[in-house]
Amino acid sequence: MRRRIVAGNWKMNTTFHEAMELVEGLKSVLTEEVVGETGVIITPPSLYLSDVVESLVDNAFIAVAAQNCHEEENGAYTGEVSAPMLASLDIDAIIIGHSERRQYFGETNEACNAKISQALNNELAAIYCVGETLEERQSGKFMEVILAQCIAGLEGFISEDMDNIILAYEPIWAIGTGETASPEQAQDVHAGIRGWLSERFDTETADNVTILYGGSCKPGNAPELFAKADIDGGLIGGASLNVADFTAIIEARTKA
Ligand code: PGA
Repeated sequence: MRRRIVAGNWKMNTTFHEAMELVEGLKSVLTEEVVGETGVIITPPSLYLSDVVESLVDNAFIAVAAQNCHEEENGAYTGEVSAPMLASLDIDAIIIGHSERRQYFGETNEACNAKISQALNNELAAIYCVGETLEERQSGKFMEVILAQCIAGLEGFISEDMDNIILAYEPIWAIGTGETASPEQAQDVHAGIRGWLSERFDTETADNVTILYGGSCKPGNAPELFAKADIDGGLIGGASLNVADFTAIIEARTKA
């Protein structure tokens, strides 16, 4: 049975004090009843990871991820953060290939592929993001774009690697815009990705990969999205910065 997950991507938001307050807020409301079988992940700016991990040391419900890593293990890359550095902070996962990284920092599918290797080599899960632009959606060729991202990003990995790779479908036109893919649109893409996974690997592997939806997922639309067969949870941006909203989305996942 694949894992149901709600992950919050804080992006470049929160001061240190705001971040720690957010963690405290989540700790106080995320009880066994709210969380159930849902895997909860938060993704603070990397600068705060160490403190966040420390403050969650006795917490059984919240895992911690980073928003990015460099594709090399170490070296002369001023300002960058490597997967071994992140792993040494006892975090659990790394988001890779977020559309903002692709769009603003020129991240290619090939770079994402190397970053996923870095995550796995360092015993961290990878949350690999794919998704189309508005233009690609309107051209009708969006599934080709998404599958090309899957093909190149997952190049060289075998079935067992997929135990540690979570996929996130995030239509770029829905991120931070208030516009969400309809549950049907999202389900169609998720089913398409799962179909491709079953050809690329095998049916069992495809059935076990968690595929998250991201893009203006809010308490109001989460129940409908999570009711779909292939939507295993959400990657939440804006709404993850608010304790009540993020909790409501987790509850929606737990109850769906
Ligand atoms: P959003 O962001 O929920 O603010 O649309 C989602 C994401 O970028 O992961």
